[in-house]
Amino acid sequence: MKNVLVAYATRMGATAEIAEAIADELRSADLAVDVRACSPDLDAAGYDAVVIGSPVYLNRWLKDAVDYLKRHATELSRRPVWLFQSGPCGEGAADEQIGAPVAVRKAAILIGTDPPRTFGGRLDRTKATGPVSRWMATGTYEGDFRDFDKIRAWASSIAGELTQPSSNGETRHRPAVPQSRRRHSRIKVDR
Ligand SMILES: Cc1cc2nc3c(=O)[nH]c(=O)nc-3n(C[C@H](O)[C@H](O)[C@H](O)COP(=O)(O)O)c2cc1C
Repeated sequence: MKNVLVAYATRMGATAEIAEAIADELRSADLAVDVRACSPDLDAAGYDAVVIGSPVYLNRWLKDAVDYLKRHATELSRRPVWLFQSGPCGEGAADEQIGAPVAVRKAAILIGTDPPRTFGGRLDRTKATGPVSRWMATGTYEGDFRDFDKIRAWASSIAGELTQPSSNGETRHRPAVPQSRRRHSRIKVDR
């Protein structure tokens, strides 16, 4: 049985719940899944594949998630990786795809994976972590714009790629940067 790490960062809990939903879907496809918060000592080495997600705050991923991509880039480049981000709130948010922060786009290239898939976010006054969050969570942006059908469908497509080998027996893993360059590359950008 293949094992998958679902690593996430969160400030107000919404992205952690997306990570859990992804994990549930992967488990229903007979994959073994661990869901963990991004941290420096979270090692990807023991996993066949990794899914990583962060909320977007002021057009950036949370530091824990970006640091995780940077610190573990070499290990991540050796296995299939999928990225997601949660953020857009308000009308049409569930269908919105926003660009990834520059640091995340660069990390995706180094790792050899696609830019993150965007899912709608959640702004809930009762979970707000400070005055700005409370203010944001009032009015048109307040609410839960996560579409769990879309989230599960995305996770299901990942499960499909992990459980059904392609005709040539390869996974989708496709390092975008030659190994020699990856080994010496550093991502020198802010979040
Ligand atoms: C102060 C603040 C800034 C935000 N900035 C962005 C942003 O730049 N882009 C975006 O799409 N969503 C933004 N959001 C929405 C959050 O990404 C969304 O609420 C997300 O689901 C929160 O995830 P979490 O509960 O896991 O922390 C912002 C929310 C707050 C409170």
